[in-house]
Amino acid sequence: GLGTINIPVYVHVIYNSSIENISDAQINSQMNVLNADFNKSNSDQNLVPAEFAGLIANVDINFTLAGVTRKSSSKTSWGTRDDMKYASRGGVDAVTPESALNIWVCNIGGGILGYAQFPGGDPATDGVVISPQYFGTTGYVSVPFDKGRTATHEVGHYLNLRHIWGDGRCRQDDFVADTPSSDGPNYGCPAYPTVNCQSNDMTMNYMDYTNDACMQMFSEGQKARMRAIFAAGGARESFIL
Ligand code: ARG
Ligand code: ZN
Ligand code: CA
Repeated sequence: GLGTINIPVYVHVIYNSSIENISDAQINSQMNVLNADFNKSNSDQNLVPAEFAGLIANVDINFTLAGVTRKSSSKTSWGTRDDMKYASRGGVDAVTPESALNIWVCNIGGGILGYAQFPGGDPATDGVVISPQYFGTTGYVSVPFDKGRTATHEVGHYLNLRHIWGDGRCRQDDFVADTPSSDGPNYGCPAYPTVNCQSNDMTMNYMDYTNDACMQMFSEGQKARMRAIFAAGGARESFIL
């Protein structure tokens, strides 16, 4: 097997107001959450109900902060058109996207917490974007998205995961066998069991839309799907030295 996968991370903070120029402590708090969640060391995993507890995966990926860039901008919101990823459009260019994860922290606007690019796309736009108030667990953070799970969710997409409901009705798949079928996202902090498509939803999965405090796991099937992209011929093979 591949063993522990190490991913260097570049964080690009692009701010309009000084509050958006988040602290190093806030960035480090997000790194801690990513490392906990991708190594089954999150302290809230005990909240996963017995039905799914045996499926909690140690994805075995370590994230190391490789650099932080900071840039002041006159732009107050960036939308989802990737301008923040290009110096020529007022943003910051990706750093070695073939072997590192780039995270742009800037105000997206429109109530959007974050967005990600799936593996196999243009290297110039590869990575994830997160609004500053949903990044990390300390500093400029906003309840109920103040536990760093937006980055966990977006990095899940970056590593090839779909939403657990497959972005469609019951028969639409997320291509992961051990995440039960559902017909749409769950929000807030749903009670267990939440039944859809004749099975209990895994509402506590990072790839649902529940509150940060109410998501605690990736599944074994999701782990296999994520790690497959690092194998020979996979879309992120170039991350493995
Ligand atoms: N809506 C965003 C997406 O689909 C992020 C959802 C993050 N959820 C959370 N509890 N932080 O990519
Ligand atoms: Zn998503
Ligand atoms: Ca599934």
